[in-house]
Amino acid sequence: AIDPQFNENREKVGEENGVSVWGPVDEPEQLGIRGTHVAVDYDLCIADGACLEDCPVDVFEWVDTPGHPESEKKAEPTHEAQCIDCMLCVDVCPVDAIDVDAS
Ligand code: SF4
Ligand code: F3S
Repeated sequence: AIDPQFNENREKVGEENGVSVWGPVDEPEQLGIRGTHVAVDYDLCIADGACLEDCPVDVFEWVDTPGHPESEKKAEPTHEAQCIDCMLCVDVCPVDAIDVDAS
């Protein structure tokens, strides 16, 4: 499962589409955690898609990640600022790749 303390245990190594990237990153096999308030561990995400389907405010967008061993697309928390902390995405992700910091 995603480390809920990722922002203490990892270093922010950049941004993509306005979304923070928490390393380590070694493309294309290792992509790190994306987002801060809504965070997705790209190295766990298997592109199940439940988060995109269920989020009531459409926080997530697909991004292509060719060459990643788990899946060739990932759910980017592109619109994390819109999150209403309903926790649906956290509950539905089959691999526990999502953390929402509702505090
Ligand atoms: Fe969307 Fe709710 Fe997840 Fe926020 S907690 S990203 S509103 S499903
Ligand atoms: Fe990925 Fe989990 Fe969403 S596997 S696509 S973060 S439901």
